[in-house]
Amino acid sequence: MNLILLGAPGAGKGTQAEKICEKLSIPAISTGNILREAIANGTEMGLKAKSFIDAGKLVPDEVVIGIINERLNKDDCRNGFILDGFPRTIPQAEALDEMGVQIDRVIDIEVPDEKIASRLSGRRVCLKCGATYHTEFKAPVTEGICDVCGEKLVQRKDDMPETVLDRLNTYHEQTEPLKDYYEKKGILHIVEGQEKVEDTTALTFKALED
Ligand code: AP5
Ligand code: MG
Repeated sequence: MNLILLGAPGAGKGTQAEKICEKLSIPAISTGNILREAIANGTEMGLKAKSFIDAGKLVPDEVVIGIINERLNKDDCRNGFILDGFPRTIPQAEALDEMGVQIDRVIDIEVPDEKIASRLSGRRVCLKCGATYHTEFKAPVTEGICDVCGEKLVQRKDDMPETVLDRLNTYHEQTEPLKDYYEKKGILHIVEGQEKVEDTTALTFKALED
């Protein structure tokens, strides 16, 4: 199954992508994670992307379209994939269509803006293996340490409150119109994000079967 996860920053795309990845054994592809890895490795693309990400703006379409084109051509995508954080603009969605990529379902996770801030301010991430935690909702066994690989957890720069507001504005202006785009294709499924991760996961799994 070829899937897209849509939703505001902090709606829980990454969290649900992991669950679907386990359930269906298909790779979860996050443009955000790929860009952060490029920044950590100091590549040319990473340097270019950093200022946009830190300001809560979108990285230019041609950069992320290039990333996705390359990634979807890898062998592990043959039996399906989950796109987390792509497309984020209408031109990105059109590029996917032009690549001839058939999308089976788009799951849009809806969380009101006022709930986003606390989710993101409590988020901690492992830069080594990509695992994410939350100080309140998904605490690691040892505070500040990754359960998976033992690395020190950090807070993402763009999870600071002022940047979160910019990210939300960017989302409403540029990404939300995609709901209409996929609704018209008849493949949009809406999931109301719940207080507990497992409750959202139950609804997400249901949306895979409807
Ligand atoms: P990206 O990394 O994709 O960030 P984002 O979309 O802003 O999404 P987040 O990762 O913040 O949220 P999420 O929905 O994955 O939530 P999560 O599961 O972690 O992109 C970062 C930047 O890269 C962008 O701003 C942009 O600059 C650039 N970029 C990336 N893709 C791009 C593209 N295609 N085009 C252009 N630029 C691009 O959950 C959030 C928190 O909430 C966690 O702490 C989690 O534990 C908690 N949580 C999750 N679910 C629940 C729940 N049900 N109840 C309580 N807490 C929960
Ligand atoms: Mg994410």
